[in-house]
Formats: sequence, C-alpha cells, structure tokens
Amino acid sequence: MKITMIGTGYVGLVTGTCFAEFGHHVTCVDNDRDKIAKLIDGDIPIYEPGLDALVAKNVQDKHLSFTTELAAAVAAAEAVFIAVGTPSSRRGDGYADLTYIYEAAREIAPHLKDYTIIVDKSTVPVGTARQVSRIVKEVNPDADFDVASNPEFLREGAAISDFMRPDRVVIGVESERAESALRAIYQPLYLRETPIVKTDIETAELTKYAANAFLATKISFINEMAVLCDEIGADVTALAKGIGMDGRIGSKFLHPGPGYGGSCFPKDTLALMRIAQENGHSLRIVEAAVEANAAQKAKMVKKVRDMLGGSEAGKTIAVLGLTFKPETDDMRDSPSVTIIPALIEKGASIRAHDPQGIEEARTLLPQNITYSENAYDACRDADAVILMTEWNQYRALDLSRLGKTMKQKIFIDLRNVYSPELLKEYGFRYVGVGRS
Ligand code: UDX
Repeated sequence: MKITMIGTGYVGLVTGTCFAEFGHHVTCVDNDRDKIAKLIDGDIPIYEPGLDALVAKNVQDKHLSFTTELAAAVAAAEAVFIAVGTPSSRRGDGYADLTYIYEAAREIAPHLKDYTIIVDKSTVPVGTARQVSRIVKEVNPDADFDVASNPEFLREGAAISDFMRPDRVVIGVESERAESALRAIYQPLYLRETPIVKTDIETAELTKYAANAFLATKISFINEMAVLCDEIGADVTALAKGIGMDGRIGSKFLHPGPGYGGSCFPKDTLALMRIAQENGHSLRIVEAAVEANAAQKAKMVKKVRDMLGGSEAGKTIAVLGLTFKPETDDMRDSPSVTIIPALIEKGASIRAHDPQGIEEARTLLPQNITYSENAYDACRDADAVILMTEWNQYRALDLSRLGKTMKQKIFIDLRNVYSPELLKEYGFRYVGVGRS
C-alpha cells in the first residue's frame, strides 16, 4: 500500500519505517526542512536501537522516502497517518495541545484524491478523530475519505520489536472500507497471529490513555509498596515476585524506581484526568498514581540526604544515568530532571554520566553540572553515587575500581540493579528502593 506519514517525530519515524519494512511504500513528511534534509542524508534525529539500519535498508530498497512536499505525498497515498506531536498544552492544565493535529488535517484535506483513509496515530483525546473528519469535510466537501484511530503502544528503546511483534493492534473504525484498509496495512502481522482489536473510534482513542494510565498506576503501586518495605524492613523485590506470579497481576511493570517519566505516562495520565473532568468525573485512582509519582521523586531526594548523614551541602554526588529509562536519549520528564536540581539546591555538586542523554541534559538541567566521560570518571572524589537509570553499562561496574576513587563509598541504587550483599562485600554503604 502507499502510505504517507505526517510527522517524523519518534512515533512517525518508527511507524513509517516499520510499515516500509512490512513491504508498503511509505513517504514521511515533515515541515521541518532541516530534519528532512538530515533524514535524506541518513542522519537519524533520535536514538532508537536498530532504527538507523532499518531506515537505511528501506531507503535503499525504495520503500521509504522523506519529503517536505505534503501535497504530492497526500495525493499519491491510499492511507495518510497523522503522527504529529500532541504536547501538554502551554497553559499547564494537563490538556493535550491539538494544534498540530488540526493543522495537519487542514493541510491534508485539499490534496486527497481517490478514497483515502486518514489515521490518527498520535495519542489524542476522545473526539479528536471526529474533529479531524469535520475539518477535512469543511475544507474539501468532495473528499472521499474515512478517519480512523490506531493508537501506538511503542516503548522507547524497544520500539522496533514492539512494532514488529505487538501484543495487539487496536483499530477504531466506522466503516468497512476503513477496516479493510487497516487490516491490509497490518496484514504482515497475520503470520504471527497478532490479535486485531476492532472498536469504534472513541474507544480506540480512550484505550491508549487507559493502557498508559494503568501501567503508570502499576508502577506507582509498587513504588508505594517499596516505601512501605523500606519502613518495615521487607524486601520489595521478593514481594513483586510473590504478587507478580499471580497471572491476574503479572510480573511486568513491578520494578520500583525513582518514579516513572518519559514522553507518555506523565502527559497521558494528566490528559486522561482532564478528559474525565470534562465529562463530570474524577479518576481518583489515576490522580493518586500521579501524586504518588511526584512523592516518589521527593522521597528519593530524602533517601540521598539520609545516606549523606542529613545534608547534601558541600557533598559531591555522582549520578549514573539521566534519561528516563535506558536505550533512549529522551530526557522528557525524567526523574533526574526533578531530583538533580533538588540536590543542587541543597548545596550538592553533581558529576553526571549518561551514554546518550548528555546533549539533551545540558538544555534541561542546571548549568553547574560536570559531565563525565564514563561512570568511573563521574565517581572520582564523590561522596556518593546514585544509579538513576539502569543502562547496561552500569550493571557490571568494576566495584573495586569505583570504590578506590570515591571519597566515601556510598551507593544509592534507585533501580535495584545490584545485590545489597555484593556492595557490602566491596565495602560500600548501600541503599536500594524497598530493600532495606
Ligand atoms: C510507554 C508505554 O509502555 C508504551 O506502551 C506507550 O505507547 C508509551 O509509553 P515508554 O514511555 O517508552 O513507553 O517507556 P516504559 O518502558 O513504559 O517506561 C516508562 C517509565 O516507567 C520509565 O521511566 C521507566 O523507568 C518506568 N518504569 C517502568 C518503572 O519505574 N518500573 C517499571 O516496572 C516499568
């Protein structure tokens, strides 16, 4: 099929490339000329494992191309996906900002030729697809089209395998033509027997928010259990195993940490709360999950302070990992963005390392941070080290080398990567999350 992808951000670029890999002919459109020029040169603007090779292969095979010329790309397409950004609105009220979606709808409309399916891929509040449909009709009353919703469930760092081996594909459609077009697009997943969940458009839109809110709630739940374990001397790792083996609960997303972050959970939980409020309801469980997440970050600051004997003032702290999770350069709403400034404010000096996030960190974190070449360099003369993000390169550190260069051997493991016993053997004072 001929597919046009509007927006070459994270979702658009991964989705477009994977559709090309499926065998479709994909044109990715963006109005950012620089970005398109770079993509044409093979320069991928984000770090996502495997993406650069997949882009190169599909460009070479002539299944994937990049352009700023929206008109021609839309006219030639059988399906147009909208994958532009939906940031939280600048008003700071949690609403998703739909300006780019509606602009895209307005720009697409005049160029639609034969029957075209327009698919909302971006995460959008309930009712957005219907609004897109209204806009297209208004601009081009003769257009032959359907609008559908097809939310993405891609995890950063694992997006390509998530796309190629999804647990399910959700399609929100209102006509048989739209349904068969989307089924044809996802036909390559037939062999894997991937379930296609067909719903109405509103349900598909809401499914994305509900999935992310549920996962965020699961994390906040285990984070609160971890705090309780810390208080009463229990072990949250064993507890997570104990509950996770119950098939109804499931073992995934039960890893306590410094709080969830990223481009989805913080934004989508707030947007879902607003959707509910607009409809006269409050989602108290989601609200509590959001509050617990903010509290978790604050508790991590206190954990560091306690380990340093009650004050961060004048202490040097090494931070390993800045991104919100490993295998990404994404710093959006990363716990480090809250925790590090709080430590600096109390007088700590920070030496930080991250395998991919330093460039973005420089724009988001206070200026007076020293960025190091590697983990050992960051830990030199430090009073404590915080393992903030569980990158693979931090999972097998040479602990004796690390300890030798530190001023005080204090290890604060906010991802429970190490066994407390091992760190003790190397002479460290260790604290994890919920493993006192
Ligand atoms: C998420 C959803 O998983 C994905 O389906 C959706 O489409 C987009 O949002 P992503 O934001 O890439 O994906 O990251 P994810 O792996 O879900 O992790 C989100 C945050 O939760 C990270 O900060 C991570 O460290 C944290 N997390 C995750 C935990 O603290 N504990 C866990 O057990 C799992």
